[in-house]
Amino acid sequence: MSAAQKDSKKITVKTLQNMADKGEKIAMITAYDYSMAKLVDMSGVDVVLVGDSAANVMAGYSSTLPITLNEMIYHASGVVRACQRALVVVDLPFGTYQGNSKEALCSAIRIMKETEANAVKMEGGEEVLESVKRIISAGVPVMGHLGLTPQSINKFGSYAVRATAQAEADKLIRDAHLLEDAGCFAIVLEKIPASLAAQIALELRIPVIGIGAGGEVDGQVLVLHDMLGITQEFTPRFLRRYANIGEQITQAIGQYVKDVRERDFPNSQEQY
Ligand code: KIV
Repeated sequence: MSAAQKDSKKITVKTLQNMADKGEKIAMITAYDYSMAKLVDMSGVDVVLVGDSAANVMAGYSSTLPITLNEMIYHASGVVRACQRALVVVDLPFGTYQGNSKEALCSAIRIMKETEANAVKMEGGEEVLESVKRIISAGVPVMGHLGLTPQSINKFGSYAVRATAQAEADKLIRDAHLLEDAGCFAIVLEKIPASLAAQIALELRIPVIGIGAGGEVDGQVLVLHDMLGITQEFTPRFLRRYANIGEQITQAIGQYVKDVRERDFPNSQEQY
């Protein structure tokens, strides 16, 4: 058990930096609603991410682009009410920060005011740097996100591994340093070669959290519905399934349907 787990005090961005400095791995996971976030928080996770992957796993969209700021605020406010200990980070959704830094700040402030979350996450490097700096200067902690950035799926054309070519790897390293220098408290690296992620984690002082980025980083993040086997069609190499809740749910509900049809439910003890 890590020092942070033994301590039930609320995790802050400082706690995460201390963990990274001591070489303690950071466990981060997504959540999108009160009930699941309560279970996640009780499990000792350090960071709960209200990811815009809500667009996929909660709303069934094929990309993260359609989710709105109002919808993210709805998801995040339930998660914040559930999390006693974990730091809650909320994704700024597509279209709410890329336009200009003033708009980005307004979006971040809405999230902080209306959800009481602890930080926001933004995708991109140099292109969004002015927005990152403006949000941080207003006192809002920012987590960066580089590598496979799903909000840019239409530019990439696929969800394949990023930064396998030297030029893209060089840009990614530059962007990581720019984000650290701008004051980001942590960075997510998604689906890039493990050796590149390891190099960046070594070069940066702030925590580097990986998803499909190997083990030589400061922490890991997974999408809750993927690691629990609620979403069953998503099977990338980096995903470890820790449960098969999807199967348990369909079995349980199938049994309920059978019991209703066969007049087994409710029985004499289950009525007034
Ligand atoms: O939206 C999300 O769930 C994310 C994680 C995959 C890092 O950004």
